[in-house]
Amino acid sequence: MNLVLMGLPGAGKGTQAEKIVAQYGVPHISTGDMFRAAMKDGTELGLKAKSFMDKGELVPDEVTIGIVGERLSKEDCEKGFLLDGFPRTVPQAEALEKILADLNKNIDYVINIDVKIDVLMERLTGRRICKDCGATYHLVFNPPSKEGICDRCGGELYQRADDNAETVQNRLDVNVKQAQPLLDFYQSKGYLRTINGLQEINKVFGEVEQLLGDLI
Ligand code: AP5
Repeated sequence: MNLVLMGLPGAGKGTQAEKIVAQYGVPHISTGDMFRAAMKDGTELGLKAKSFMDKGELVPDEVTIGIVGERLSKEDCEKGFLLDGFPRTVPQAEALEKILADLNKNIDYVINIDVKIDVLMERLTGRRICKDCGATYHLVFNPPSKEGICDRCGGELYQRADDNAETVQNRLDVNVKQAQPLLDFYQSKGYLRTINGLQEINKVFGEVEQLLGDLI
């Protein structure tokens, strides 16, 4: 199964990706996670990405396209992949078409998690993530049983550097501008499937499962 997960920041891409990976075993390719890992390792890519991510801007297409092309050509993507947060611009989507054509692959579905913009500030500023296993929580919508501690592994929870109100606002502005042309691009190709992301987390996943049932 070759999938793309789309949605504005906070729509629930990472949350649903975690469930899709657990259920269907496809490799999860999140450009945001790749950039954060590079930042943690202090690589040149990480330093470059940080200057954009800290402001809530998009990392330039040529950088982002390069790392995705490299990642998709790895052996674990032979039987499928789940792209999360890429593509985010039409030039990235066009580049992905080319990368996949060269690898003799096609997209099965582009799953768009649709949410109203006014819920996203609260979702993002309330998000907490486990330092050890990366599990995602929300202070109100999906709280851990014990404050500040991961239910799954006991790790400490932290807030992402770009989840402060000012950076979130800029991320939303930047991504809203890119979203409609990208949706139009995938609609015209017939890949687009839209899911209501305003439902409770497991209900959203129920819709994803229904859709992916066609592919197994
Ligand atoms: P990235 O890490 O991809 O961040 P994002 O797109 O801003 O999306 P998020 O990870 O913030 O949100 P999400 O949709 O995964 O939501 P989540 O499931 O966590 O990118 C970060 C940065 O990297 C970008 O700003 C950019 O600089 C750069 N970048 C990355 N990709 C790029 C690209 N392709 N091109 C250029 N630059 C790129 O959920 C959010 C919260 O809501 C959680 O607390 C969760 O528990 C809660 N929640 C989830 N679902 C629900 C629900 N149904 N109901 C209630 N709460 C829910």
